Amino acid sequence: MTQSTASAPGKTILFGEHAVVFGKPAIAAAVDRRAIVTVNSKKSNINSNITFQSRSLDLKAELDLDKGHIKLIRGQSGILNYVMETLFKKHDGSPIDIQLEMKMPVGAGLGSSAAVTVATIAALDDFHNRKIEISQIAKVAHKVELTVQGAASPLDTAVSAHGGLIFLSKNFEIVPLKSDLKDYIVIGYTSNRGNTGEMVAGVKKRRDLHPEIMDPIINSVENITLKAKDMLDVETLNTEKMEILGELMNINQGLLDAMGVNILELSKMVYIARDAGAIGSKITGAGGGGSIIALCPGKTKDVLNALKIIENAIQADFSKKGIIIH
Ligand code: PMV
Repeated sequence: MTQSTASAPGKTILFGEHAVVFGKPAIAAAVDRRAIVTVNSKKSNINSNITFQSRSLDLKAELDLDKGHIKLIRGQSGILNYVMETLFKKHDGSPIDIQLEMKMPVGAGLGSSAAVTVATIAALDDFHNRKIEISQIAKVAHKVELTVQGAASPLDTAVSAHGGLIFLSKNFEIVPLKSDLKDYIVIGYTSNRGNTGEMVAGVKKRRDLHPEIMDPIINSVENITLKAKDMLDVETLNTEKMEILGELMNINQGLLDAMGVNILELSKMVYIARDAGAIGSKITGAGGGGSIIALCPGKTKDVLNALKIIENAIQADFSKKGIIIH
């Protein structure tokens, strides 16, 4: 191919973050805010490097695969580390031009790095006429995240590649769940991103220091996730199931607080959402900054408006589709 375009969605974690790092299950949903990656071939005599551009991120760079060097022309390099690592694994080094269009806020805990990685792998597979194998792409994307971040569960990359509402089992099996949470969930995000690596390390340290206290907390989160899975594996969520889900979210929030990943801004958003009518609200993702989610059937507008007074918020449009080849 001379040009290939692929996109992948962001995600939000509904239950089980942090516990998933200790091998516990988690539930996450793909959010229809996408990273769209286009790969174009370039004539080799113009410039032997790989060029990368993203208007939406105001980012421009040249990537030298041989030297592993990123020459930043404009913007911040964060996401480029994922692109570079992906190129090492999936590209032969021939000169190409990569364009990235980001339709999601970066650093808001929506899994932007996973979405960019998954979309880049899919675009490169298509570009090189390789078969698009979703599970394979999810696996490679997880390896990229591990290399760049040091620690990462396969949750973000699995949800971004497969799409839909997903239960990630203890042994990393992906089980699609039936529910459609459309119109019920609001995501509130702070302007400062928590550092996932630091948050994960903090929980690990607390667990190493006080296993007799932290293990029951982690086990409780596992039980919450398992109960939520039962609630969510139905076509239609009735009021009773919805209320149980809300309560499970609130208990999960208390346990995330106990794990030490809550901060004032997140706590404020959690309570503002409940005050505006959410039946459940909790941190989503690593905490320390980032985002919260609120379950608010019939009250999404009220919750959105209340959160927007202090921070940013969006309604979560879920995506049944993961990778799309355009
Ligand atoms: O903050 P996020 O969206 O990267 O989510 C991190 C979720 C953790 O469970 C804390 C870590 C992980 O790798 O699963």
